[in-house]
Amino acid sequence: MNQAIRFDIFTLFPGIFAGFLAESMLKRAQERGLIQVALHDIRQYATDPHRVCDDTPYGGGGGMVLKPEPVFAAVENVLGPPPASAAAPAAPIILLTPQGRVFSQSLAAELSRQPRLAFICGRYEGVDERIRQGLATDEISVGDYVLSGGEVAAMVVMEAVSRLTPGFLGFADGARQDSHARPMQGLLEGPHYTRPLEFRGMAVPDVLLSGHHARVDQWRREQALLRTARRRPDLLPRATLDERERQFLRSHGYDPDALPPGRVNGH
Ligand code: ADE
Repeated sequence: MNQAIRFDIFTLFPGIFAGFLAESMLKRAQERGLIQVALHDIRQYATDPHRVCDDTPYGGGGGMVLKPEPVFAAVENVLGPPPASAAAPAAPIILLTPQGRVFSQSLAAELSRQPRLAFICGRYEGVDERIRQGLATDEISVGDYVLSGGEVAAMVVMEAVSRLTPGFLGFADGARQDSHARPMQGLLEGPHYTRPLEFRGMAVPDVLLSGHHARVDQWRREQALLRTARRRPDLLPRATLDERERQFLRSHGYDPDALPPGRVNGH
């Protein structure tokens, strides 16, 4: 993890990021110097008079393809010329694409160790293959669905990585308790409650009012186990569970080592 991280975003639509960067946690993180974000408009690097950045695909077929020249020009202008063969570029150059490595908390942690990250947001039907071949050093997908461009995906990655920057969260270890964060050892978090004590007939569980920290911790852990078993049983075989926890799951009718075929996220 770093003290601060810089993001360089290459996009045809920098305006998409405006509200995202100007509100709440990311705004505060920038003000406090924990993260720095530079938006680069790919269109500014197109050389023809109409600043065209897309073209029809060779070989025919529908849709338009993002041209390589303005993307290479934008990235090289900001990060410097391509390094000599074996050398690494000034920052990992990440293409957001549904064909990339699937994003996860562990990938966020991996990226958070870098002082600087560059994101290329694709648009149109695809990007010219030379952008993958000769410019991007990594490709990331935020899930098995297709967005209209990489901008929303870049925001997802940027936010998850920023949260891991020390000092980003107002309290000491908030990120550590998040579902999917490592100290939860591969489990989803259990339920949270705040005031009022009762809302529309739904009461806060007594144990949370007991003031007994060890019992509260045990209840939270058990709720995390049950929630994971019900909603994401696919996570259980990889979770770090002790024998008492395995026994607890079995006593509730769940097999911590079984993977229910085809069931993900409770559906
Ligand atoms: N661009 C379009 N769809 C995407 C996805 N699922 N992940 C990352 N970038 C994308």
